[in-house]
Amino acid sequence: MALEPDSADVLPVFDLTAVVGLSPNEVDPELCASISKCLHESGCILVRDPRVPADHNDRFLDILERYFGQPVDRKMADCRPGLDYQVGVTPCGTEVPRCVVDTQMQDQLRKLKGNNRATLPTGPDLKWRYMWRVGERPSVTQFPELNAEPVVPQGFPEWSSVMDGWGAALLGAATTVAGLLARGLGLGGTELQELMAQGPHLLAPTASDLDCNGRLGAGLAGYHYDLNLITVHGRSRFPGLYVWLRDGRRVAVRIPPGCLLMQAGKQLEWLTGGYIMAGMHEVVVTETTLAAVEAARAAGRSTWRISSTVFTHCASDAVLRPLGRFTEQPGSAEAYPAIKAGDQVQRELEAICLRKMAVASSAAAGAGPGACPSPVANKTELGSASTAALGGSVNNPPVGGVNGGPNNGSSCATGVAISLVP
Ligand SMILES: [Fe+2]
Repeated sequence: MALEPDSADVLPVFDLTAVVGLSPNEVDPELCASISKCLHESGCILVRDPRVPADHNDRFLDILERYFGQPVDRKMADCRPGLDYQVGVTPCGTEVPRCVVDTQMQDQLRKLKGNNRATLPTGPDLKWRYMWRVGERPSVTQFPELNAEPVVPQGFPEWSSVMDGWGAALLGAATTVAGLLARGLGLGGTELQELMAQGPHLLAPTASDLDCNGRLGAGLAGYHYDLNLITVHGRSRFPGLYVWLRDGRRVAVRIPPGCLLMQAGKQLEWLTGGYIMAGMHEVVVTETTLAAVEAARAAGRSTWRISSTVFTHCASDAVLRPLGRFTEQPGSAEAYPAIKAGDQVQRELEAICLRKMAVASSAAAGAGPGACPSPVANKTELGSASTAALGGSVNNPPVGGVNGGPNNGSSCATGVAISLVP
């Protein structure tokens, strides 16, 4: 049987070594155009940045493995549902994959065939997450929940320096790419970087307990796109991340040593009027994941799968709208109307059950984004998700995971059985 293609086979690596310290307008325009073209065609790129040393990633993964290996009640002290989980820990069984509540995405999912099919979600994601803010925040903002002070967990004196260091390294790489990309798109070289200034950038590792969720096919994070501008991935110690290229191919993520994977998020799609589409992805337990788990056990290492992820954002108070030549694309103004980035983020967080719904009409709308599935239902058809939120009503989402449901913050959540009705 042929090996499945992975990201290192199908994506070029863009080396930033020669451009560090240059302004975008001083860089070879061919490099800028190639980055733009690759993101247009595939939704993601591989990047080598000499400012991002691999040993920083190891220190980051080490501390996160220790953090998530703690008892549940220790971790729940760092949970901030009132801030939409945008700082501190998010327990497993809280975030709902967008495809469960988004009928348009379900149509897209049904078109995937053969080896390119997604793993159907079986309820809320099994992953935990920690959100750590990176970079300068605005002193005044309309969106304080998205720009809150960080949560520093007890018992980790090196936490802030490790997280700040790794987060700043990944954010720096993404900021450089944003400059090159803007030029490649025919925009001003600093146009995207200016939108990113004082954005609510987050170092946002996900964490999956493979001791109890190490079942072949288990969905750790269901099929979705990221709501932000550009997502940066360093190397994880366990495989399982898959991305879809724009042509529909499902590709396993393998990041060559010394490299990062960057994927377009919804805000980049918005700013380019759909010229670059937000990249779809999922995290699922595969044979290679299980082999890595066995190797970790044999070596006495942690079996928590930690992702090395930064979400870069546009500033919450900045306005998203198609830029430059993308305003002229037919339909772009209707599909991507002007909206403050903070409002766009909050709508997305409502849809995936991380934020309390602001308007009751969303509940009345039923199956649209924001109608969170019930964790106690045995079967929920995609496209007809229950209007009951996880552990409560839509307007009263759970605090700290699935209250009253099967999970209760346990690492070994099994989620909800959800069937895909063809
Ligand atoms: Fe994601």
